[in-house]
Amino acid sequence: MSYKQTKIWTVDNSSLLEDKAPEIEEAALWIKNGEVVAFPTETVYGLGANALDEKAIQSIFTAKGRPSDNPLIVHIAKESQLDDLVEEIPATAQSLMEVFWPGPLSIIFKRKEGIAPSVTAGLSTVAIRMPDHPVALRLLEEAGVPVAAPSANLSGKPSPTTAAHVFHDLNRKIAGIVDGGPTGVGLESTVIDCSEGTPILYRPGGITKEQIEEIIGPIDVDPALASAGEAPKSPGMKYTHYSPAGILYLVDNRENISNYVHEAKKAGSRVGVLTTEENADAYDADVVIACGKRNDLATVAMSLYKSLRSFDEEKVEVIFAETFAKEGLGIAIMNRLEKAAESKRL
Ligand code: TXA
Ligand code: MG
Repeated sequence: MSYKQTKIWTVDNSSLLEDKAPEIEEAALWIKNGEVVAFPTETVYGLGANALDEKAIQSIFTAKGRPSDNPLIVHIAKESQLDDLVEEIPATAQSLMEVFWPGPLSIIFKRKEGIAPSVTAGLSTVAIRMPDHPVALRLLEEAGVPVAAPSANLSGKPSPTTAAHVFHDLNRKIAGIVDGGPTGVGLESTVIDCSEGTPILYRPGGITKEQIEEIIGPIDVDPALASAGEAPKSPGMKYTHYSPAGILYLVDNRENISNYVHEAKKAGSRVGVLTTEENADAYDADVVIACGKRNDLATVAMSLYKSLRSFDEEKVEVIFAETFAKEGLGIAIMNRLEKAAESKRL
C-alpha cells in the first residue's frame, strides 16, 4: 500500500489537559476504521492498528517488511480490556500489572479467540501492555479497541524515538503519525511470559529483572539471552535488529578504540565512534557520537537509537562502540547493542 501523503498530527501534551483533543480523536478514528497510524509511547514510537481487524494488522507487517512469524504486542488503556483478550490472569501477572502498569512491561498471557490471527503469529499466547504516555493512553481510550503495535521502524532498523524517525522509515507507507515529541525510555518494553508456571524473561528492557523479582520472587531468563547459540523462545528475538548501515563492532577495552580508528581511517573508511559524554573528546574519528552519560544509563538508553541512526545520516562505514557492564539497565542496552552489531566484538 502506498499513500500520497502520510498525515502528521502534532500533539502538545498540554492540549491533553483540555477536554477535547481533536487530533487524537481523528487518529483514533482512523485506527478504529482499519488504518495504520504511528504514535508515541514512553519507550519508542509504535505502529498501531486495530488488533481485532486482520486486514489492518497485515498492513503493519507489509509497511514494516516484518516477518510474519514475529507476533505483535497489544496495547490497552484499561485493565478491563483484558477480559476479552486473555483466558486468565495469573497471580504473577496481576502483581506485576499492579506495580508496573501503565509502564514499559509487556506481559504474555494465554489468549482468547477474537484477536486477529496475525497479531499472535499463530501462537496460543498474546503479549499485552499498557503504555505510560498521555498521548498513547488518550489515543487508546478514544479508539476503544485493543491496538496491536510493533515499533514503528522498518524491520531491522533501530526503533524510532521521534516522529521524524518514523517519517524517515515509513513516509507514504502508513496513513498517519501522531507526533508527541521524543520518547522517554528509549528502549522497547521488557517482555515477560506469565502464561505458564514460573515467569520467563524474553526481552530485557526499561524494567529490570531485579525490579520484577522484588515483586514476584525469582523468575527464569530465556537461555538465548545469555548465549547466542540458543534459539530464543520469543520469535522476534532471533532477527537482526537495530542495525546501522555501517559495520558495527563492540569494543570492550576502550583503550583500543583509538588504534582501530586509526587503522580503519588508513584503510580509507569513513569511521565513527559511539561513546558517552565523558569520553567524547578522546577520539579522532570522522564522526564521534556521545550517547548519554555513562554514569546515568537512563540517558544512554534514551539516546541509543537516535545515535545509531545518526551514523547512517553521516554515511559512516565502520563504527566502533564502547560497551557497558551488564547490570541493571546495562543488560537491555547491551542486548540491543549486541543485536545491532550482530555480536561482532573486537
Ligand atoms: O516498547 C515496546 O514494546 C514497543 C512499543 C511500541 O510498545 N513495541 C515493540 O514491539 O517493541 P516489537 O514488535 O518491536 O517487539 C515485540 C516483541 C518481539 O520480540 C516479539 O517476538 C515479542 O515481543 N512477542 C510478542 N508476542 C509474543 C508472544 N505471544 N510470545 C513470545 N514473544 C512475543
Ligand atoms: Mg521492534
